[in-house]
Amino acid sequence: MKLLEEKIRSEGRISEGGVLKVDSFLNHQLDVEFLNEMGKEFKRLFSDVEITKILTIEASGIAIASIAAQYFGNVPVVFAKKTESKNLDADTYDSDVFSFTKGKTYKIKVSKKYMNKGDKVLILDDFLANGFATLGMIDIVKKAEAEVAGVGIVIEKSFQSGGKILRELGVNLHSLARIEFDEKNQIIFNEND
Ligand code: G4P
Ligand code: NA
Ligand code: NA
Repeated sequence: MKLLEEKIRSEGRISEGGVLKVDSFLNHQLDVEFLNEMGKEFKRLFSDVEITKILTIEASGIAIASIAAQYFGNVPVVFAKKTESKNLDADTYDSDVFSFTKGKTYKIKVSKKYMNKGDKVLILDDFLANGFATLGMIDIVKKAEAEVAGVGIVIEKSFQSGGKILRELGVNLHSLARIEFDEKNQIIFNEND
């Protein structure tokens, strides 16, 4: 997505350990007009698949998914919870997610009420790095006997293994931008959809 590439070029900052900071529009401050453009683009990329629900993970995924949902006929958005919450039903589908950056495993949870057999689920998230968070969400969809209709990612870090793993699993994956860093630590954009 050209607009996203321009946005990353002008506002993205590279920090240590191959991390791209996009706090100004995606991870802290939100550019709503821009989120709208991304929502339209996700709809274009997944226009040929039936979607009954969008699944994401707190926190950054929520805004992306909520705005995108409006282009998918306002299907419900469910976000997997990472933190223990008193509000969460006891009856949940759970999956263990290994965080590469934090070096530890955490649980993600979705109430059984909100993920149902037969649901056709579009998984959306901000970043795809090693793919553990996405794999955890896929695991939850499968536990609910629902179907993964697609995975949409805003920024795929194509030098990490998540994209390869998901494509090899046959997942219908689309990323709005695919990035890597060159030897001077400058951003390179790879081919995408
Ligand atoms: P992994 O799932 O692919 O293994 O990634 P990891 O655990 O290392 O990622 C930890 C968090 O960092 C995730 O967000 C992920 O989306 C995000 N992330 C990974 N690479 C980058 C990057 O280059 N830039 C930015 N800005 N974020 C990155 P999270 O902890 O779930 O937090 P939230 O932002 O969704 O609340
Ligand atoms: Na994040
Ligand atoms: Na995330």
